Amino acid sequence: MQYVKSSLRLYRLAKSAFNSYQISTPGIALWMSVLSAALLAVAGCQHSANVAPVAQPGPPPLVANMYVGNAACVECHKAECDVHSTSRHSYTLHILDPVRPTDVDPPRGAIPHTGFSVDTFAGDYVITPANDMSRMQPLVFAFGSGKIGITYASPNGPQSLLEIHKTWFPHDHRWETTLGQETTRDDVPGHNRADGRQCLLCHTVTVTDGSMLPEAKFLGVGCESCHGPAGAHINAIHARSGDIAIERLGKWDATRINNLCGRCHGTVATIASQRDQQLTYRFQPIGLMRSRCFLNGGHSLSCITCHDPHTDADRTDRHYEAVCLRCHAASATNNSGVAVTKANVICPVNPRNGCITCHMPGRQAVPNSGVTYRMADHRIAIYPAETRTSRR
Ligand code: HEC
Ligand code: HEC
Ligand code: HEC
Ligand code: HEC
Ligand code: HEC
Ligand code: HEC
Ligand code: HEC
Repeated sequence: MQYVKSSLRLYRLAKSAFNSYQISTPGIALWMSVLSAALLAVAGCQHSANVAPVAQPGPPPLVANMYVGNAACVECHKAECDVHSTSRHSYTLHILDPVRPTDVDPPRGAIPHTGFSVDTFAGDYVITPANDMSRMQPLVFAFGSGKIGITYASPNGPQSLLEIHKTWFPHDHRWETTLGQETTRDDVPGHNRADGRQCLLCHTVTVTDGSMLPEAKFLGVGCESCHGPAGAHINAIHARSGDIAIERLGKWDATRINNLCGRCHGTVATIASQRDQQLTYRFQPIGLMRSRCFLNGGHSLSCITCHDPHTDADRTDRHYEAVCLRCHAASATNNSGVAVTKANVICPVNPRNGCITCHMPGRQAVPNSGVTYRMADHRIAIYPAETRTSRR
């Protein structure tokens, strides 16, 4: 994936975003007349200078003017950049462009069980009520890489997104109700998310204060989503200073790493509802840190024990079983070199393989829907046979 997108695309984005602010003011003439103002918006991104910033429970805190974007790392960290650029992290937010479609574009035509259709108009995807083009809304953002579902949205005010009612599941080739929109009426295109800025902050590196228009170089989860702003690091390297001015995450302990990933993937500190905390397939850090492997294993198990942070999750069970067997085998020591407490518990059912299906079973990504994708339950535990489901 290319890191730097053309300024034409930014212009289009600003155009769409600006126009969607006119949500209560139908009319294509107006749409066209605000174009020149939209150009100013591109320059300044100053829609809401007087709006107080909202609380940010999940995403990383922002540090002004220090983020530089992935492209600035390539010359010195090419290996990390190459693998990361093809990962779902880097693809998790797209700006739609019907002229250059990708595999996360919405299918055109009626959205079942709503009064709306997806169409194109003046170079944008739009969502329109049947037979009433004057009430169209542009679709600007595609959230999600397409592995599970893709939710379409557009800026709808200084902090808000219009998130459409149905989410597209390309593998099942169907629209399903967007999580949290179970009560949305069929005569509106979707729901106004007053916390829309939060969506952007977890699916981009950063968004300028007061703007709902992420710069192209910050789309997706980038290097600095985990490593923090790296402007000072690059300056330090050029100045040949002794301090590289960036954290070495490899030196962090497991709890700290889990909380770093958990800023987006969820921890008990960021997921307030007790009920949602049970979704240990969705909020992996909560699940992992509730496992006895973590609690009784010297708090040594982290996301990067099993996952390379720069690439997608490995799809073979063997990869993960090898991790289990580091501790659950005859002469195991855990990955920090400390012998496992209650020494080396070995599975009485199958001490060699199949660990994941039985102890990290698949859970339907969208319960009670036609969505087939199953996510791995990250609470490693003993489950009753009837709830053990393979992920594929
Ligand atoms: C001009 C070259 C240069 C650029 C550009 C650069 N780095 Fe570095 N980076 C280095 C050097 C040199 C080190 C130190 C390597 C060492 O001591 O192991 C380093 C170290 C790091 C480390 C610590 C590695 C560790 O051992 O844990 C991280 C993280 C890092 N860089 C991230 C980034 C990111 C993210 C970017 C882009 C925003 C970036 N760097 C841009 C040269 C560069
Ligand atoms: C800034 C937010 C953010 C941070 C921080 C973050 N992630 Fe993610 N992660 C995401 C999003 C968003 C996705 C969904 C990607 C998609 O659309 O498929 C994701 C997806 C993933 C996936 C699934 C990729 C696949 O194979 O389908 C893994 C694994 C993952 N993250 C691991 C990690 C780990 C490990 C860390 C910490 C080192 C981490 N993430 C930190 C936001 C984040
Ligand atoms: C606290 C950070 C955070 C916020 C806020 C957030 N997301 Fe995500 N989002 C994630 C992570 C992490 C994933 C990856 C889930 C996984 O694969 O485990 C994800 C995945 C997704 C996906 C892929 C489909 C799926 O079910 O995994 C879509 C679509 C999505 N988010 C849309 C949104 C929208 C729309 C909003 C705002 C209403 C939003 N997200 C807010 C972190 C966040
Ligand atoms: C999802 C979080 C995440 C993202 C995104 C990410 N990193 Fe890392 N990176 C880490 C973690 C965690 C480590 C420590 C890995 C370890 O010690 O095994 C790390 C390690 C490194 C290192 C040290 C060498 C190594 O591989 O251990 C460098 C250099 C680095 N990252 C650069 C980058 C660059 C450049 C990008 C963007 C192209 C990037 N990272 C994106 C989390 C991330
Ligand atoms: C860092 C070492 C470590 C790793 C890696 C590890 N475990 Fe564990 N696991 C433990 C410890 C320690 C216990 C608790 C033993 C005790 O106190 O009885 C445990 C307990 C368990 C239990 C019993 C859980 C319960 O609630 O009774 C199961 C099942 C299990 N592990 C499966 C796995 C599987 C499957 C994997 C790989 C996906 C894995 N473990 C990886 C250390 C580890
Ligand atoms: C003991 C190994 C292990 C650890 C530790 C682990 N994971 Fe996973 N993870 C898995 C397995 C197995 C899968 C399923 C991979 C597949 O699709 O085949 C997975 C998949 C994922 C996915 C993709 C969602 C899905 O199920 O398709 C995300 C996101 C993820 N892990 C995040 C995390 C985060 C964040 C952490 C740290 C809190 C973490 N994982 C720690 C084993 C682990
Ligand atoms: C067919 C399902 C299945 C497979 C495959 C399987 N297990 Fe188990 N495992 C179980 C069940 C069921 C128990 C509980 C047995 C009991 O309490 O009698 C268990 C118990 C355990 C325990 C706790 C033992 C104790 O004494 O507390 C550990 C640890 C464990 N399994 C690890 C693993 C690992 C590691 C693998 C892969 C090498 C694995 N299991 C493969 C079903 C399975």
